[in-house]
Amino acid sequence: MKVDKRVKSIPLTKENINGAVRVHFNNLQEGLIFELGEALATHFYQEIVRDSDSWGYLAVVGHSEVGIVVCTLNVKKVSTLLYRKNLIQVVKGVLPRLLQPTLLKHILEALTIKKGGIPTLLFLVMGENQRGKGIGSVLIDTIIKDFQLRGVRKFIVELNEGNPAEEFYKKKGFTFKSCYKVFGKNRRVLEYEYQ
Ligand SMILES: CC(C)(COP(=O)(O)OP(=O)(O)OC[C@H]1O[C@@H](n2cnc3c(N)ncnc32)[C@H](O)[C@@H]1OP(=O)(O)O)[C@@H](O)C(=O)NCCC(=O)NCCS
Repeated sequence: MKVDKRVKSIPLTKENINGAVRVHFNNLQEGLIFELGEALATHFYQEIVRDSDSWGYLAVVGHSEVGIVVCTLNVKKVSTLLYRKNLIQVVKGVLPRLLQPTLLKHILEALTIKKGGIPTLLFLVMGENQRGKGIGSVLIDTIIKDFQLRGVRKFIVELNEGNPAEEFYKKKGFTFKSCYKVFGKNRRVLEYEYQ
């Protein structure tokens, strides 16, 4: 697939966090970061750009953001940093859910899931009208190379059961590893392993 030459992927920095959060929130309505709200998402992206073990890219056409990819060598470290340093924001995200007991229960469950410190592709999201143009492939190929350069042999990605993006990951060489329940939904863990 020929990718539009105007598409550029630029590293995530504190200057372009707002664009990343916009792409994330407008196009991926699943996962803990989405449930806890946009304010916490901004803190999450700040932790990503500060953390030496985490990084990402923003895909842009001119001045418009069209996609993001975010990953980390240690998902436990980055989530611990996020929740410890932004406890007030987490509580603010949870408070409006007090009237939705099921959702609140799911958020609390999600916050207490024990995650290993494993290399993880956290998010890969394209704007809705930018999908199917090969940009997601460019971003994932970049991340696959980045992990390899850092000496990582395996990394994972998680997504809700039924998310059509699973097909995309399988085409890229990911395989199903395991499944667990969160937010009342099956969360599927896929793994990429270098041959
Ligand atoms: C998954 C996603 C990032 C793919 O990005 P993209 O730019 O549309 O993907 P590409 O155009 O590079 O597609 C690469 C290949 O995957 C296939 N593919 C992409 N999305 C697909 C989908 N939803 N279902 C089936 N196949 C898909 C393409 O057909 C293409 O196949 P080909 O190589 O045989 O031509 C994008 O669909 C997306 O943002 N989805 C919503 C966010 C999301 O759920 N992300 C995953 C959770 S982190």
